[in-house]
Amino acid sequence: MAPRRKKIYEGKAKILYEGPEPGTLVQYFKDDATAGNGAKKDVIDGKGVLNNRLSEFFMTGLGQIGVPTHFIRRLNMREQLIRQVEIIPLEVIVRNYAAGSMSTRLGIEEGTQLPRPIVEFCYKDDKLNDPLVPEEYVVAFGWASQQDLDDIVALALRVNDFMSGVMLAVGIRLVDFKIEIGRIWDGDFHRLVVADEISPDSCRLWDIETGRKLDKDVFRRDLGSLADAYTEVARRLGVLPSNVTHRPKPTLIN
Ligand code: TMP
Repeated sequence: MAPRRKKIYEGKAKILYEGPEPGTLVQYFKDDATAGNGAKKDVIDGKGVLNNRLSEFFMTGLGQIGVPTHFIRRLNMREQLIRQVEIIPLEVIVRNYAAGSMSTRLGIEEGTQLPRPIVEFCYKDDKLNDPLVPEEYVVAFGWASQQDLDDIVALALRVNDFMSGVMLAVGIRLVDFKIEIGRIWDGDFHRLVVADEISPDSCRLWDIETGRKLDKDVFRRDLGSLADAYTEVARRLGVLPSNVTHRPKPTLIN
């Protein structure tokens, strides 16, 4: 049977297909979970469905406060229609509290509040394990212009303010997150938009009361059920898709 549509790219957690109109793509969320650049792998039932919903929720909210994103609309349980962008080869990380690689690198205890949000850049290259790079590299190697870089930092901080507020409202601390930025060209000019996904795969989310981790660290560090953690985030935000809602078991009528 001929394939339904052309595959443009397959990554670790998502597939991009040709969209219905020029300049659009269909982004499909897989159930695959990986950590350590693919060193640890598993399939987590329902993860793709949850991340599709959660990314829709965050991207839509960002759009509503005037932060441009690639998101157009959700198509179904696992797919969303997005604008085709030219991805800038950087992982843009914003940190509010020390954790993960920052804690390892600097010996700062996980959970220590940082004096202010810190934006850092990793060069996207799996073969090199996405190394942390100084801003000077970004401009010198031509990955982004100085103007782009300034705009990326401003965008990342707006995303941080929005995401921190949304999560705080449901009792969750946004420790850090990663976004990717894309260019949309219009003749000789381009604008920058938030691309890829925003989900518990790319954020650190801690319950404020208990410190329970509700993000991919559950998988990276073998802390229990990843699906349960993501379901909890979706439930608190009120975005649980109907077919993964925990329904009461049917009772037999005599
Ligand atoms: P790190 O502490 O491992 O550097 O990660 C910081 C944040 O960025 C954390 O929320 C996980 C996220 N992240 C990704 O989503 N993908 C990546 O490839 C990396 C390096 C980090």
